[in-house]
Amino acid sequence: MPNITFIEHNGTSRTVEAELGQSVMQAAMNQLLPGLVADCGGYCSCATCHAYVDDAWISRIPPAGDDEKAMLECVLHIEANSRLTCQITVTPELDGMVLRTPISQT
Ligand code: FES
Repeated sequence: MPNITFIEHNGTSRTVEAELGQSVMQAAMNQLLPGLVADCGGYCSCATCHAYVDDAWISRIPPAGDDEKAMLECVLHIEANSRLTCQITVTPELDGMVLRTPISQT
């Protein structure tokens, strides 16, 4: 299973094993990681699963769809590498991916 690392705003780093086919958000929630809220459960309607995908990984995932782009306009502290983790599907190619969670979700 791919390993995905989440780094909180305070620098705390945690790596989880993610199941193929689940969302990156679900991989974090299964381990009760802080930094992601995921109020809507992955339906792209809350934006509380916002995270910053490490620059080394942002080009390796599919671009955001229209619904995700619309929701990203609602997040605080948006950056060029902002994504909604519920919209990123875990694939073998994501092994080693690093994301940072925003201060607004601490
Ligand atoms: Fe709600 Fe991702 S969990 S938008």
